[in-house]
Amino acid sequence: MEIKTKQTWSMCKSLLKEVKEWGCLKQTGVSLRYMTEFGSNPTDTNLLLSAQFLHKELPIRIARRAIELHTLPHGLSYMPPVLKVKDWYLHSFRDLRSFSEIKNMEDEKEFTEMIKAIKMRHNNVVPTMALGVQQLKNVSEDPDHIDEFLDRFYMSRIGIRMLIGQHVELHNPSPPPNCVGYIHTKLSPLNVARNASEDARSMCYREYGSAPDVKIYGDPDFTFPYVPGHLQLMIFELVKNSLRAVQERFMDSDEVAPPIRIVIADGTEDVTIKVSDEGGGIPRSGLPKMFTYLYSTAKNSMDESQPPSDLGTIDNVRMAGNGYGLPISRLYARYFGGDLQVISMEGYGTDAYLHLCRLGDSQEPLP
Ligand SMILES: Nc1ncnc2c1ncn2[C@@H]1O[C@H](COP(=O)(O)OP(=O)(O)OP(=O)(O)O)[C@@H](O)[C@H]1O
Ligand SMILES: [Mg+2]
Repeated sequence: MEIKTKQTWSMCKSLLKEVKEWGCLKQTGVSLRYMTEFGSNPTDTNLLLSAQFLHKELPIRIARRAIELHTLPHGLSYMPPVLKVKDWYLHSFRDLRSFSEIKNMEDEKEFTEMIKAIKMRHNNVVPTMALGVQQLKNVSEDPDHIDEFLDRFYMSRIGIRMLIGQHVELHNPSPPPNCVGYIHTKLSPLNVARNASEDARSMCYREYGSAPDVKIYGDPDFTFPYVPGHLQLMIFELVKNSLRAVQERFMDSDEVAPPIRIVIADGTEDVTIKVSDEGGGIPRSGLPKMFTYLYSTAKNSMDESQPPSDLGTIDNVRMAGNGYGLPISRLYARYFGGDLQVISMEGYGTDAYLHLCRLGDSQEPLP
């Protein structure tokens, strides 16, 4: 049974009380290294331990988000899409709390199926929240704190999905070589950059009828442990932005569009990926806005009649317009201790630096 709208919150006093209690409990973060080490030995005992950990940890994380969704400024909590998202969080909290203690492998299997369903239920959180924020922005000019809230909210979502996905994947009886759940222990950033660029270029082709070249420089033999899906999403978003900038600048010119250059550097501490374009850059005054949600200079910017599609997928038919590419990519980078910086030369082009933590020791940020 779906829990409906805000009345249910006051009606379900006991649920509300439980959410509040759990929202006060301390969250426990894990590192990429820990996930890799723990997951390389997916014995029944380990799977059981992992399920028991999630049984306690997920309701804490989900409760914190549900509370925050309930107390947003500027009436954002009551925007219909936000109410819908809150329902998903409450529903999942209740599913987790009503699951009794995990004692054996049978319980563990059932629990795994349940969290798989929870992950699916939350698939459309990003576009749905975006719609809610959009509706609010139509009413109230520049509401503050919304960006900080969304950063916390999406960061927490990345963590929850990573934990669930990792646990579910550990059940794969024949995982691909060098894969520990979601983590690839020998990931070649050059390969990921190649795939992500090709995906972005096909999208550019579809939208503009042509696409600038992407040149990639880096050691083809270099690998490091990372989550391929995360890296693919970040590079895809950066290349998409660069392609659009170059394309729009050179579309009507006789000059050949200059290529986008991706440089991959393997340092001791960081793996840094630079995406450079000569797409004209942006003015210095516009730089702080780049990382705000819904900031987009695309003509087809999101409107209510056209909900945004999910990020990082090739199904996203638009090159730009959601205004989510940069802020979400920065969260993915920060999730494992990295960062994303953008430096622009107005009148020439833009460089985006994606720093990824090489050692994988940094703990998850827990908003
Ligand atoms: N390489 C770049 N060159 C010039 N402007 C850029 C570049 N990257 C980003 N921008 C500017 O920053 C804005 C925000 O970028 P962001 O990727 O967050 O959103 P978007 O590209 O508009 O939409 P989407 O969510 O679909 O990616 C862009 O609309 C564009 O104005
Ligand atoms: Mg973008």
